[in-house]
Amino acid sequence: MTLDASPTLLPLLRDRRSTRSYDAAHVLADDELRAMLDAARWAPSAGNSQPWSFLVARRGDPAHERFVPLLSRGNQSWVPRASALVFSLHQVASGPEEDALSYSDYAAYDLGQAVAQLSVQALALGLAVHQFAGFDHERLAEVAGVPRHWRVTTGIALGRALPPEEAGDPLARERDSRPRARRPLAEVAYAGVFGEALSLE
Ligand SMILES: Cc1cc2nc3c(=O)[nH]c(=O)nc-3n(C[C@H](O)[C@H](O)[C@H](O)COP(=O)(O)O)c2cc1C
Repeated sequence: MTLDASPTLLPLLRDRRSTRSYDAAHVLADDELRAMLDAARWAPSAGNSQPWSFLVARRGDPAHERFVPLLSRGNQSWVPRASALVFSLHQVASGPEEDALSYSDYAAYDLGQAVAQLSVQALALGLAVHQFAGFDHERLAEVAGVPRHWRVTTGIALGRALPPEEAGDPLARERDSRPRARRPLAEVAYAGVFGEALSLE
């Protein structure tokens, strides 16, 4: 693992992190929420299939209260402080019928890209995003009335990050102070043959 990053990496991407230190007093404005969801909506997708949808609950909404108990214990320690709790879904079949055709081989890929765009828009608005998989997917689908041809995929916490030293929760403070690291570029980008190092100046 390494801490290095290209000097021309966009500062927004360089400085992004999956924070656990959310400001529990922050309220998300409608235009901010709209901009983030629009950023997702305008992502590319296979054949423009747009196989994504989102369940959105702001802190304090009845839906938020229904969703929080479905989070894993670890995620319950930080997600509820975020201003909004969003769940991402991708479409897996053309309709709800038992014999419906599968929808698109690339639906999960397309959803991931849509959430990446949402994240960049959030960062540009000075907001933070932390995606998570630790929740009861089946119960969430039941509670939110998700049709069988849609799959609940990830949770997304949106809000304003506090500097870690201001986080009330000691675990959040410690985790958000850790340096972020990645596998080195030579281990992820190859020169045409898998495993063959790409040589860059
Ligand atoms: C699909 C997915 C699932 C994740 N699940 C969780 C989770 O359940 N709980 C959590 O705290 N973070 C979760 N994360 C956040 C990752 O741990 C985090 O992105 C990773 O450690 C890299 O850290 P960084 O985003 O700050 O660079 C998840 C991220 C993704 C994309």
